[in-house]
Amino acid sequence: MQTHEIRKRFLDHFVKAGHTEVPSASVILDDPNLLFVNAGMVQFVPFFLGQRTPPYTRATSIQKCIRTADIDEVGVTPRHNTFFQMAGNFSFGDYFKRGAIELAWTLLTTSVADGGYGLDPERIWATVYYDDNEAAELWQEVAGLPAERVQRRGMEHNFWSMGIPGPCGPSSEIYYDRGEEFGPGGGPAVSEDRYIELWNLVFMQSERGEGTGKTGFEILGPLPRKNIDTGMGVERVACVLQNVHNVYETDLLRPILDKVVTVAARPYDAGNHDDDVRYRIIADHSRTAAILIADGVSPGNDGRGYVLRRLLRRVIRSAKLLGIDGPIVGELMAAVRDAMGPSYPELVSDFARINRIAVAEETAFNRTLASGSRLFEEVASATKSAGATVVSGSDAFTLHDTYGFPIELTLEMAAEAGLTVDEHGFRELMAEQRRRAKADAAARKHAHADLSAYRELVDAGPTEFTGFDELTSEARILGIFIDGRRVPVVSHSDAAGAGRVELVLDRTPLYAESGGQLADAGTISGTGAGASARAAVTDVQKIAQTLWVHQVNVESGEFVEGDTVIAAVDPQWRKGATQGHSGTHMVHAALRQVLGPNAVQAGSLNRPGYLRFDFNWQGPLTEEQRRQVEEVTNEAVQADYEVHTFTERLDKAKAMGALALFGERYPEVVRVVEIGGPFSLELCGGTHVHNSAQIGPVTIVGESSIGSGVRRVEAYVGLDSFRHLAKERALMAGLAASLRVPSEEVPARVANLVERLKAAEKELERTRLANARAAATNAAAGAERIGNVRLVAQRMSGAMTAGDLRSLVGDIRGKLGSGPAVVALISGGDGDAVPYAVAANPAAQDLGIRADDLVKRISAAVNGRGGGKADLAQGSGKDASGIDAALDAVRTEIAQVG
Ligand code: SER
Repeated sequence: MQTHEIRKRFLDHFVKAGHTEVPSASVILDDPNLLFVNAGMVQFVPFFLGQRTPPYTRATSIQKCIRTADIDEVGVTPRHNTFFQMAGNFSFGDYFKRGAIELAWTLLTTSVADGGYGLDPERIWATVYYDDNEAAELWQEVAGLPAERVQRRGMEHNFWSMGIPGPCGPSSEIYYDRGEEFGPGGGPAVSEDRYIELWNLVFMQSERGEGTGKTGFEILGPLPRKNIDTGMGVERVACVLQNVHNVYETDLLRPILDKVVTVAARPYDAGNHDDDVRYRIIADHSRTAAILIADGVSPGNDGRGYVLRRLLRRVIRSAKLLGIDGPIVGELMAAVRDAMGPSYPELVSDFARINRIAVAEETAFNRTLASGSRLFEEVASATKSAGATVVSGSDAFTLHDTYGFPIELTLEMAAEAGLTVDEHGFRELMAEQRRRAKADAAARKHAHADLSAYRELVDAGPTEFTGFDELTSEARILGIFIDGRRVPVVSHSDAAGAGRVELVLDRTPLYAESGGQLADAGTISGTGAGASARAAVTDVQKIAQTLWVHQVNVESGEFVEGDTVIAAVDPQWRKGATQGHSGTHMVHAALRQVLGPNAVQAGSLNRPGYLRFDFNWQGPLTEEQRRQVEEVTNEAVQADYEVHTFTERLDKAKAMGALALFGERYPEVVRVVEIGGPFSLELCGGTHVHNSAQIGPVTIVGESSIGSGVRRVEAYVGLDSFRHLAKERALMAGLAASLRVPSEEVPARVANLVERLKAAEKELERTRLANARAAATNAAAGAERIGNVRLVAQRMSGAMTAGDLRSLVGDIRGKLGSGPAVVALISGGDGDAVPYAVAANPAAQDLGIRADDLVKRISAAVNGRGGGKADLAQGSGKDASGIDAALDAVRTEIAQVG
């Protein structure tokens, strides 16, 4: 049975049983604790927690899921995917254990002719939480499963949560026995390769708190109602129904794998396990990459962007290891589109963008591989010339960290060069980096605070935002928090030593940070008996999208829960903020006008006087494009367009052409901001000017890359724009004055100065070389004699590079004749480094004198490292106070042989 049929039968089965079909959410949801949506239930969390009332009591969906924790298992086991489709049915306070078991059992075992999956009931096993007698009995009663095919397992296996605070509960998993060729008998407790997990039924009834791992957290208490959350792995069911060995060979992944077979140097499934794993990694990861890009992720160096980058790099690297030399990512993206397009039309409609981003990453990584290879060669030759055979762990780490070289690549290249790698040292450094990353993540989570403290207020209803119409509003204090703990009152003196103080109001004119616009600055002041209370608002954030939380400095008096207060926006700040936000829309519109609709927004930030706008685009803008964007923007400002805001249904707004952000989830009714009719139309909840002329001049001050395929434009607006230009003008005037030419002649004058500087530098270099040659002749003339050996051993003054010294020792040696001669020069330089070089001629070598031995002596005296050969060697030290001792050491050594 093909995957699309499996999906269809699932949805049909549950819709027939009274469930509402809900589309998959984006893989990115607005939760800082969750990198990606990893289960079908994520979009329903507020329903489970009782924060929102669901519009249905039964739902079904097929959710796009990303899980990368087990990335190393991909391709190795038969069942791990980084992207998979989770088919689920959900009950919000409606049916519970019996209903869930009955519905799953029927779909799995009903014959294919009657619309089910037709699995043999004799091969099905179930697991339950160890003390869940109820579920165990239901499996026997509802499904007729004999007791020996219902296994009990502990919290690690049969208790489910999202890994972060939220709903949780005991679960019951359904397994299918693939037969003895896949592993030993004894049920899922013995082999999860033979008994493959198909479906997880979670009896969602509790709420968990902070903690880690599958067991290290506290259960905070019961949920308001008992719910059901189930997840069936579509790829796993396909694996069973298509009778293939692993998920990578199912109908939607196999074509991607086959595409690789056509270009790789080595075959699939021909007995080479490592190659087979590489094939499967490519199929799995290219599909995940396409889905991530479609949902708005761009390759980057942290967070989601890094996951995408890592997946694509593993694809490219695996392809190289299969002997594929040319580009491959474009073909893979096309294969993903063809396989997955019928279920995910965005992969077809948005293909050009997806392909462009993925291929750009491939090109960039290939360049990185090239420069990393150069670094590797340097490392390898330094290792060899120091007489060593092991590449250090820190070099391997740099190759990994800076150049994205997987350790296997370094190992392989080292082996080709006859070297090994200190893998242990490398792994230590990796572990250290992971520890740092973990500590960062933990710190971030903590900052996010335990939201349960705000739950009661979230439940009581949303804060009313009055700031579109007024800048000052009367409001009531609903809650006061110090460091996330609720308190009845906060006074100036309490607040002095305390951490974060927050006030939650029933209504407020202060804008909470969102959609790229920073929070308003303003004040909250008391009234009546509490009139002396005053607080400055330093930040405003939304919790659960609905509750405005004002972070404040209490400057005087005290605030008591229930008090009436006056919340006021700083009007100057707001004016600047509206200029910044409307300016962002103008720059966005201008970019699309100049570059075309492919310049898709990737993010933005604005505050009074400044804005930045990120968009998907390959390569820098030309000078001309940049000028045009600025010109179109300022013309639109000058046109004094009216700014019109209205609410509309999401589908209608999109049909009107309103621009929405990729990966963002919008409610059914959205706010639309229109500037100048068709000029700019965007979904936006921000505050804006009334007429475009109020934005004032817009000056683009920068255009740069912030990652592969994403550019950033930065601009000043309003008075800040004018101030920026005034500063530039003053700079120019200053330049013109010091160059003593009128401003328009500054560029020509600077070009002329640069030319002259270059000529002077060349002249200087010529003189330096002439001096060095003269020094060589003098030094040769003043050579000392130790035994039979003529020796020049000197400290050189002035800054000399290792290269200068090397050529100088060679020159002097040439002037010392054919008898035994040695030259050792050490630069006393003025920097920290102490470079040195030694040359020995053939006659000296015949006496047993080696330049590299002498360099070792010098190294010991000046705390340095170096190496070379018998005739010529060099090094560099750190301790100039050892130079005299070093020269003496050279003399002593020569005295011994000569
Ligand atoms: N949330 C559960 C899981 O992801 C069931 O949907 O396994």
